[in-house]
Amino acid sequence: MSKKKLIAGNWKMNGSVAANDALVRAVIAGMGAADDCTVAVCVPAPYLAQLQMLRAGSALELGAQDVSAQEQGAYTGEVSAAMLKDFGARYALVGHSERRQYHGETDALVADKAKAALAHGITPIVCVGETLAEREAGRTEEVVKRQLAAVIHTNGHCISEIAVAYEPVWAIGTGKTATPQEAQQVHAVLRAQLHAATAHADRVAILYGGSMNAANAASLLAQADIDGGLIGGASLKAPDFLQIIAAARLQRD
Ligand code: 13P
Repeated sequence: MSKKKLIAGNWKMNGSVAANDALVRAVIAGMGAADDCTVAVCVPAPYLAQLQMLRAGSALELGAQDVSAQEQGAYTGEVSAAMLKDFGARYALVGHSERRQYHGETDALVADKAKAALAHGITPIVCVGETLAEREAGRTEEVVKRQLAAVIHTNGHCISEIAVAYEPVWAIGTGKTATPQEAQQVHAVLRAQLHAATAHADRVAILYGGSMNAANAASLLAQADIDGGLIGGASLKAPDFLQIIAAARLQRD
């Protein structure tokens, strides 16, 4: 039996109090105890309090989409790891490609954000991935290794406490997915890099993200080094998200 998969939804900048209520109630009702699969939703910061109430008594875990590298103080607009913890967040995405691309986040900043999350007992889901141009230039491995290396360098022996999400930028929101073989190849590279850094690399969940949906989830999740999924668009529709969760559960049989 393979290890428990992690299925995390990334709502991005979507949602409303009314829409979240309907979506989360449907997901919780459909997933049940979910003791054979960890399920989380990474929501916009203003909705953390709403989610904390909605998920009470359920197995649904809560995550944020970003976290400040700073502890506290004069950092207007930032949200600290301690604040996320206050609302029961277990995860925080760090270094999503949309933040690297639109907010200029560097490898070093992403590594500091991961450190801030870890210091407060929050699992950073470190996102890595190449652009189409980088893939076509044969630079995929070099790029993802550079991105992960920064996080390993800054976090030392704590590195086994992170999660990683391989999200090829060209597959995000495009309907194009990496084939299971293409994804597995990169996941194996990331696993080897983690093995070189820690004796506990097998503990690290390496998720795939990029147009994962109800139809392609099972074949991606069947790969040896794909420990779960980070799902954008399909996490906003309860039936689709539930089908992905069901596919992850089947891998445990
Ligand atoms: P899509 O599933 O919409 O392609 O988004 C993937 C993603 O960026 C998750 O973080």
